[in-house]
Amino acid sequence: MYREAPFLLLRETISSAFHDAISSMTIEKPSFTSGSKRLPIIGNALDYPTETPWVKYAEWSREYDSDVIYAKIFNTSLVILNSEEAINDLFVKRSAMYSDRPHHIMVNELMGWSRNLPSMAYGDDWRTGRRLFHQEFSLNASKRFRPHMRVATRELLRRLLDDPENFVKHFRHLSGYISMDIAYGMKPKPEDDPFIACSERAVAGVVRAFVPGAFFVDMIPWLKYVPAWFPGAGFQRQARVWKKETDDTFELPWAAAKKLLASGSSTPSFTSFTLEQIAESNATAEVKAKEEEAVKNTAAAMFLVGSDTSIAPLQSVLLGILSNPEAQRKAQEELDRDDLPYVTALVKEALRWHDPAPIALPHRVTEEDVYKGYRIPKGSLVISNLWCDVYTDPMAFEPARFLRPDGTLNPDIRDPCDIIFGIGRRLCPGRHSAYSFAWLTIASLLAVFDVTLPIDENGIPIEPTYEYTSTVISVPLPFKCVIKPRSEATEKLVRSLDVDE
Ligand code: HEM
Repeated sequence: MYREAPFLLLRETISSAFHDAISSMTIEKPSFTSGSKRLPIIGNALDYPTETPWVKYAEWSREYDSDVIYAKIFNTSLVILNSEEAINDLFVKRSAMYSDRPHHIMVNELMGWSRNLPSMAYGDDWRTGRRLFHQEFSLNASKRFRPHMRVATRELLRRLLDDPENFVKHFRHLSGYISMDIAYGMKPKPEDDPFIACSERAVAGVVRAFVPGAFFVDMIPWLKYVPAWFPGAGFQRQARVWKKETDDTFELPWAAAKKLLASGSSTPSFTSFTLEQIAESNATAEVKAKEEEAVKNTAAAMFLVGSDTSIAPLQSVLLGILSNPEAQRKAQEELDRDDLPYVTALVKEALRWHDPAPIALPHRVTEEDVYKGYRIPKGSLVISNLWCDVYTDPMAFEPARFLRPDGTLNPDIRDPCDIIFGIGRRLCPGRHSAYSFAWLTIASLLAVFDVTLPIDENGIPIEPTYEYTSTVISVPLPFKCVIKPRSEATEKLVRSLDVDE
């Protein structure tokens, strides 16, 4: 006999946009197999989470004394896993069943996103994409890209020197620069690069379309056959516009990279390495064409994914330093020496303090299952709530938590990198390069700049709110800080750095 998971009627899962979209809709109760024991229904009296849903999920988990929470929204069953044990049990031990992604008709079929690795169904195309990604981004292989990161970081320092107020814009440029360089061997234009602009438009489209309930075609699948000219089929016309942007994002940088490669003027990249391998292989023309298509899609995933996630820790470090200036002093003291455990602790703390993807990406279970006596219906969306307070004083920004009293790294303290990149077969394949990126950028930035609170006209420091967005990728709300060279010597150093390696 099954127990029924503590069941909550949610208005909000992944993003605040989702909250707006479903507020006017009917919420259904879940149905369970007969004989199951019902747990209290909280229903509409519930104080729905409009902000930081991961915190609320953790609260519910405590309130119902269960690490598995169940909710039903329209026709979708939602299972929220609130402990590492539950996430490991399902995403690792039963990974064959729990590694699919939700299928969105609007996004995957009509807008053409089924070829993007993070939203791909669990199957052969996904396996090929993961293999290609791993080939370039495993711990060892990704070291090859360090020179790309070094050059890009120098450019960031130069930009921060000239225009410190727009630090988020420069972080974004840095991340776009690195992913375009690594994926395609191309450098973006210094301002308003057309490929980056196109990818941002494509992502903006998908973010809007992902909102559950935003398009009826996701609830009534046969609507996808309604032609665009049909009255009321505005979604088809919108899908066409968005599909063009998606296709352009996958096709245009790829075509430009191949052209550059043919002319012999591109730098080593994922595209150049893998196309070389394909050219040298003895496979048939048909197999080679298929492999090339997979390389194109994987290159686009490298280019598209990871921008916001990568820059979130950089913003977190600045915020963390504003809340704990002593952390900056200690890191800078160490940067003037050789051994850098405090800087490593600072980077880990930025990743821990505010996990950039606190509820990761939803998985989909492909078979009906029973876990801890709870029935998990086939097709449920399974969310891993990785926001957990395994650390003492979790809201404080305190890098020293990762160190022993003698200042060396303490291996007994839980490494946030084991959690924040996800768990199971869908684990982030860009994690090694994302960590190197955060480490190199933070160390370089603190080696040459001081980060302090801005001061108002009365000489009073202006504290930020330290608040983050509640979206899938959670980034700090806009905040101000002063970024100034530590000395004339460091300013000179930045100006003398070669950015054209
Ligand atoms: C600090 C930065 C980053 C964080 C915290 C992060 C975190 C995550 C998380 C939590 C997932 C979902 C795991 C799951 O579904 O269980 C994921 C998936 C993914 N990430 Fe990252 N990520 C980061 C940077 C990057 C970068 C730089 C890249 C690209 C180079 C990247 C590429 C991907 C891809 C392709 C997937 C989808 C994998 C799949 O569905 O099989 N990520 N990431």
